[in-house]
Amino acid sequence: MKAAGILALIGCLVTVADSKIYTRCKLAKIFSRAGLDNYEGFSLGNWICMAYYESRYNTTAQKVLDDGSIDYGIFQINSYTWCRDSRLQKNHCHVACSALVTDDLTDAIICAKKIVKDTQGMNYWQAWKKNCEGRELSEWKKGCEVS
Ligand SMILES: *[C@@H]1O[C@H](CO)[C@@H](O)[C@H](O)[C@H]1NC(C)=O
Repeated sequence: MKAAGILALIGCLVTVADSKIYTRCKLAKIFSRAGLDNYEGFSLGNWICMAYYESRYNTTAQKVLDDGSIDYGIFQINSYTWCRDSRLQKNHCHVACSALVTDDLTDAIICAKKIVKDTQGMNYWQAWKKNCEGRELSEWKKGCEVS
């Protein structure tokens, strides 16, 4: 726990690093301000838990899937349906995939909201289903300055 805390601190200081790992409470604040708390009925804990298990809060996380599409960013949003990369697919979020792997989470949050609206819930995120759905999730915002 101590080591994790120190690592988190170093993460905050090294701003020139390519990838940014947000802290849980920083994310809680950003998510809360962006209106994710209870968005479509999903409490803040759902979002923080989902982001943790999808990307470990890593804004530059990328994963290539078997079909060649790529999951991008903190919410691991897939290029096949939701964003635009070199393969030019459906791009339902009308956003470049590269905009989903920056420290500014604005576009990623807008797209995640669209996913939840269009697919009627958070089932899109396998890691959420597996680790967060139906659990007691208030712990995820514990100690953070959010209501
Ligand atoms: C964040 O994700 C990027 C891209 O997958 C990876 O290169 C980097 O090592 C990750 N950072 C951490 C701290 O895991």
